[in-house]
Amino acid sequence: MAIKGVILAGGLGTRLSPLTKITNKHLLPIYCKPMIYYPLETLVGAGIEEILIVTGGRNAGDFLRLLGNGSEFGLNHINYAYQEGEGGIAEALGLAKHFAGNDKIVVMLGDNIIQKSIKKYVDDFRKEPRGAKLLLKKVSDPERFGVAELKEGKIVAIEEKPRKPKSDYAVTGIYMYDNQVFDIVKNLRPSKRGELEITDVNNAYIKKGEITYGILGGWWTDSGTFDSLLRANNLVAKDSGRKRKT
Ligand code: G1P
Repeated sequence: MAIKGVILAGGLGTRLSPLTKITNKHLLPIYCKPMIYYPLETLVGAGIEEILIVTGGRNAGDFLRLLGNGSEFGLNHINYAYQEGEGGIAEALGLAKHFAGNDKIVVMLGDNIIQKSIKKYVDDFRKEPRGAKLLLKKVSDPERFGVAELKEGKIVAIEEKPRKPKSDYAVTGIYMYDNQVFDIVKNLRPSKRGELEITDVNNAYIKKGEITYGILGGWWTDSGTFDSLLRANNLVAKDSGRKRKT
């Protein structure tokens, strides 16, 4: 069965204002490339050929100008969807329903930058009959993320940005879902901040007992705050330097 890729690249990027006043966060530079290049390369590197980019706002057209049909990435075409308003990550994901059809999807937040390939996790997920798979990463500042509570090797709950995290394992912005995800999204209620939360989607899979996880190797960072944007630039620069020298 084909697995399709979805990159979520909407939002106002308010935590990066004024950098995001006149452009979309995902078009900002990470070292030598626009941010959106990195999740695209990650999905293509995992063997995914059908990719949808969900974006919104005033700069949506710039994605098409920048990426075109994706030939630079070895793709034949790229699909685009437009998110009206700012209803959150899970709302943006809901826009992928038509694109996904009956296939499984790998969803990646457009500001997540990782060092290594996720191909082996995607291949594992392909073999799983149903449900969802998350990628976790041990971090020193779990309160900034969705945090997985683990018991006997299983995820029993996820809390979004908890004050007292129950583990050091952040839920990275790489999510694998079967097509039940669209019914789950449809039945979500907005959180206190008025958004449909991806953590609520994942908790719905936990309730069904249909979630697995992997621990992501290599480095991982988001890039939606000044500090994490700087960190992403430095990590990519360091790796590029290493490659240039060899
Ligand atoms: C989002 C998710 C969070 C996840 C993080 C990964 O947070 O809500 O669960 O750990 O992405 O980057 P945001 O960056 O939108 O605050």
